[in-house]
Amino acid sequence: MHPVQIVDLFAGPGGLDVAAEKLGIATAGVEWDPAACTTRRAAGLATWEGDVRLYGPSAFPNADVLAGGPPCQTFTVAGAGAGRRALDEVLTFVDRMVAREDPEEVAKDLSKLEDERTGLVLEPLRWALEAIDKQDKPYRAIVLEQVPAVLPVWEAYAKAFQGEGYSVDCGLLRTEAFGVPQTRKRAVLIARMGSGSVQLPSPTHRTYRKGVPRESGDAELKPWVTMGEVLDRDSGFLVISNYGTGGDPKARGRRGSWEPSATVTGKISRNRVVGMHGEELARFTSSEAGRLQTFPTDYPWSGRDIAQQIGNAVPPRLAMHVLSAAFGWAPPSDEMLNSLRAWKDAPSEEQLTTQDKAEGV
Ligand SMILES: C[S@@+](CC[C@H](N)C(=O)[O-])C[C@H]1O[C@@H](n2cnc3c(N)ncnc32)[C@H](O)[C@@H]1O
Repeated sequence: MHPVQIVDLFAGPGGLDVAAEKLGIATAGVEWDPAACTTRRAAGLATWEGDVRLYGPSAFPNADVLAGGPPCQTFTVAGAGAGRRALDEVLTFVDRMVAREDPEEVAKDLSKLEDERTGLVLEPLRWALEAIDKQDKPYRAIVLEQVPAVLPVWEAYAKAFQGEGYSVDCGLLRTEAFGVPQTRKRAVLIARMGSGSVQLPSPTHRTYRKGVPRESGDAELKPWVTMGEVLDRDSGFLVISNYGTGGDPKARGRRGSWEPSATVTGKISRNRVVGMHGEELARFTSSEAGRLQTFPTDYPWSGRDIAQQIGNAVPPRLAMHVLSAAFGWAPPSDEMLNSLRAWKDAPSEEQLTTQDKAEGV
């Protein structure tokens, strides 16, 4: 399968698009945050700055793959109160949309929801159904990712997509099990049109467990990757955050350079970094925080609140595995994965000229 183009909804600073472009697939991202759009443009990613709800498949006639990471704030408290209610509401809307209830009626009821963001998670389904019903051109593949609390929505989507002729797999993936130097769990759905088998990517690295040496575990898998391996710091360090890592309260918020980073969030720039003798070290730069998410070292982070942009993104390395699995391709080669280390390999003619001028050559 050779996709022409991916349309990426809620595209953020481009975690998924970076992976796709490195795989040789063109992308078009829809994103409304001006800051994330500034980064995207600096990176040269095709960007439609605006509300996903105002667009549809007809605006992207060349796209044959749909991707998306809708915002999830209302679900992150799922299981309790508002989150649980939001989830139940969304599942009802999935049924109504799949039953092809009048879209205007559905839209009217969506606008009455307690939190309007709840409806955003339904946008990929609206796009997928519109591509079938209005364009007569179903997306050949669909890739969705979000926080674990959204898994029940992806499970409902899986049933819906199967009913439309897709083969689907969905579940939770751990980023460190794909060589990302960070522990982070994501709910991922991949779908491919047709009856072939579709499977989420298989881990390439071991799962991190506090206190368990990286050498022990499944001999078929590589050891998880540490922060120290990807950041160019002179010596070992400890990252201290005020936020829990879940699990052992004594270990709360502390990870050493010999471990993967805790989940990178919008608070990453507030974490303290201390040396092995307790001395205060420089906090993570944007490039370093980006590298913990496997963005290229020279990714041109721009605009406001870069830490939040970085925390929102899907790690490009995980996205490369997920996209390859969705297309039925072999897992990405080491060479392909290593290409994520640099965004622009060689400076362009224009950059060189500017640099020469700046240096007065
Ligand atoms: C979880 S992030 C997605 C990150 C992206 N998948 C990546 O890898 O970089 C969600 C994004 O959706 C954007 N967003 C939220 N509501 C939106 C809307 N109605 N239209 C367009 N973008 C929206 C947010 O600004 C945020 O960047």
